[in-house]
Amino acid sequence: MTALHSTLPEWRELVAQAATMREAHLRDLVDADGRRFEHLHVEYADWLLDLSRQRITRDTLAALCALARAVGLAARVEAMFRGDPINVTEGRAVLHTALRSTFAGTVAVQHEVLAARQRIEAFVAAVRDGRERGATGKPLRQIVNIGIGGSDLGPLLVAEALRHEWSGGLTPHFVSNVDRTQLLDLTRALDPAETLFVVCSKTFTTQETQANAHAARAWITGALGAEAPGAHFVAVSTNAAAMDAFGLRPDRRFPMWDWVGGRYSVWSAVGLVAELAIGSDRFGEFLRGASEIDAHFLNTPFEQNLPVLMGLIGVWNRTFLGLPTLAVLPYEQRLARLPAYLQQLEMESNGKSVTLAGARVDYATAPVVWGEPGSNAQHSFFQMLHQGSATAALDFIAPLRGAWGGTEAQDLALQNCFAQLQAFAFGMTREEAETEMRTAGLPGPDVARLAPHRTYEGNRPSSLLLYPRTTARTLGQLLALYEHSVFVQGTVWGINSFDQFGVELGKKLASAITISGAHRPSGPGAAGIAALIDYVVKHR
Ligand code: F6P
Repeated sequence: MTALHSTLPEWRELVAQAATMREAHLRDLVDADGRRFEHLHVEYADWLLDLSRQRITRDTLAALCALARAVGLAARVEAMFRGDPINVTEGRAVLHTALRSTFAGTVAVQHEVLAARQRIEAFVAAVRDGRERGATGKPLRQIVNIGIGGSDLGPLLVAEALRHEWSGGLTPHFVSNVDRTQLLDLTRALDPAETLFVVCSKTFTTQETQANAHAARAWITGALGAEAPGAHFVAVSTNAAAMDAFGLRPDRRFPMWDWVGGRYSVWSAVGLVAELAIGSDRFGEFLRGASEIDAHFLNTPFEQNLPVLMGLIGVWNRTFLGLPTLAVLPYEQRLARLPAYLQQLEMESNGKSVTLAGARVDYATAPVVWGEPGSNAQHSFFQMLHQGSATAALDFIAPLRGAWGGTEAQDLALQNCFAQLQAFAFGMTREEAETEMRTAGLPGPDVARLAPHRTYEGNRPSSLLLYPRTTARTLGQLLALYEHSVFVQGTVWGINSFDQFGVELGKKLASAITISGAHRPSGPGAAGIAALIDYVVKHR
């Protein structure tokens, strides 16, 4: 279909519904349907998705599902799982689901995935039990991942989220930023003799990763001799020639494939640093958790399908209600890096303004994604979310138990989470604020003066995801839920969620500039950039 999806009757129906819904308050919606929770929540396995505080009715959900049908979502999902080249701008299949598939043999790449898994597991076991050692014979205990974007955010999230599942005495570390601060901090603290670097880069050309990897190699060579890097470096990449040039031993290379995008790659050897920290059994549970969601996504009617509903609500809030941002609010400290991970997943995937056919869209696509864990966030930016002039869509995510299994502290977290859900949705009217102040004994003039400041409009829409506890399995499920939700949104918007040409221009211009060398910038606005370079050279 080449016409914009906004020309579909199902789309226009949602535009009409949104016009009504913009006038509605969640208080009215609750009054109109006393069984909103029953009608607007879905359970799958151990997961609960509560949409009852979204600005929707059952009609909205039905209309969103109708739109999903009209844009051919089911066929797109099947095409993705089958390995059709749905990444049309790069002519590639999109098969991150094959990396965790428990339905072996479904796609041609499965045997390569299995062979890679076996090599990864053998290597992980050898490092963890000390058979694989550094150049001096010391066991490798400090594992430093060097990578950026998808080659950093996924393994970082998994390693941090599953800290309570670390075993084997290995500590993961992460170096991503081009400014080298992270590497310098680490090299001051770590013993090179027990440090293993994992250079993660699908292309093996990314400037930041190359610069950090070369600096790390110089550190190892300086400390342990010219032959030492062979024992202290492994790599994950598709680029054999560049790994040759770096001097990586053939048995120290793990594959990536064109059919896995960086932001979808944590399931591959890109997850190696996390797998070294938690062990292959746990990592296998992470993969199986994701695969369970894959099966659910493939086989469940839209109305009961968690990622489909999450994606459709995302479209509703962004495109039809016009909410520009999505705040991700995990009530779980272990998920502190989830907002950063989802920023890349959602914004690099769906931050596009042209359709698959190259036509400019006339509707809003990906929101700005941001967030922090609750309850910390309550004490920083929640003020603005409650009373500021912009309205954000809110994703609350909370486990029933704390990461270590306890309930006492998690009860406090859940109390806060539920209170915030209520406050955001229903607010406090001016009359309620006045009554509260009068009851507290405030004098009449103060009540009148303070009432506008103590009123909460409410009507801030939120979703809530509840799950048992943060484990390897539930983390795999959570990430797969969001991956598929992003695909659903991209499909409704008619865009390619799997390329990222938007990041190329900056990379190209950066490679054409040197601060202290001979390259002067060229192209539009070059004089202004040249003036900045001159300023740096003169003033530092
Ligand atoms: O600049 C964007 C990007 O290409 C991401 O899509 C990717 O995850 C990241 O850079 C790192 O790329 P690579 O793994 O090739 O180093």
